[in-house]
Amino acid sequence: MNSITIQTPDDWHLHFRDGDILKETVPATARCFKRAIVMPNLVPPVTNADEALAYKQRIMAAREENSQFEPLMVLYLTNKTTSADIKAAKDAGIVAAKLYPAGATTNSSAAVKTIENLYPVFEAMSEAGLLLLIHGEVTDQHVDIFDREKAFIDQYLEKIVDDFPSLKIVFEHITTKEAAEFVSGADDNIAATITPQHLLLNRNDLLVGGIRPHNYCLPVLKRNIHQEALRKVVATGSSKFFLGTDSAPHEKHRKESDCGCAGCYSAWSAIELYTQVFDELNALDKLEGFASHHGADFYGLERNKGKITLVKEDWVIPEEIMLPNGNPIVPFFGGQTIHWKLQS
Ligand code: NCD
Ligand code: ZN
Repeated sequence: MNSITIQTPDDWHLHFRDGDILKETVPATARCFKRAIVMPNLVPPVTNADEALAYKQRIMAAREENSQFEPLMVLYLTNKTTSADIKAAKDAGIVAAKLYPAGATTNSSAAVKTIENLYPVFEAMSEAGLLLLIHGEVTDQHVDIFDREKAFIDQYLEKIVDDFPSLKIVFEHITTKEAAEFVSGADDNIAATITPQHLLLNRNDLLVGGIRPHNYCLPVLKRNIHQEALRKVVATGSSKFFLGTDSAPHEKHRKESDCGCAGCYSAWSAIELYTQVFDELNALDKLEGFASHHGADFYGLERNKGKITLVKEDWVIPEEIMLPNGNPIVPFFGGQTIHWKLQS
């Protein structure tokens, strides 16, 4: 197959950031995605409906003229979140709330220290029909970084999924065989997003021949058996798995540093790279479900009306992009040739 047309996709997990950079990040995503679930880990985080609506307006204002792109907003759960915050969020059209265990990732210091304290909030979310999005990693010092996702499943996730059978939960950016198996085997109230980097790469791509800061993200890339498990599960076409790029921009000097930030800025290459993966798997017929159907269905939103076309054609992702503030950023796969191209 040399070209593929699918219903317009959505990105069910990304980071736009705030301020000037929105002029870069929003159009980059809107070039192919109709909607995106916008992560709330700003500094300070987006913790209530008013902040989320104000942030939504700033995102809308950064769209190009006539853009139909629609940001879907998310609350950041903290130890202070109340059931009243959830009700207000529901009334404001906010679709989900995000659970970051404290210290799990970029700007998560405000996050939750004791998950059990949030049970009344989960109850309110379940009633209001807000989805719970989870960064599923424990943060205990003694747990190895490569084992943190599995430990989270064992210590918390199994219990949350059982305790709240009517709460829809998205296990975000899964990276392991155990996570893929857990989601596949669990009830219909749990699904998962998968990033392009975790389908394309494994920890060798981070560490062999030198440290590759632009492949560093959280959860960190795992060994190849995990990458293979993720590839296998998307090739099944299971409706429990859908597209979430986790596009997470950090300026070049913040990544190429003695303590580099986690995050891959994939907005310029994600849909093409997913297509490449499904092509490698001989599963191009499963791309549309993953990119355009399963997420909308799980969120209870309408599928998009438009279409996009990708053609099999080599092109090189730019090595750098200049941000509105004059600082460069390195896009994911920058300088590399990829084999599918979005037709404009
Ligand atoms: C994200 C970021 O930079 O905000 N980083 C990342 O590596 N994915 C945070 C996150 O989603 O964990
Ligand atoms: Zn993220």
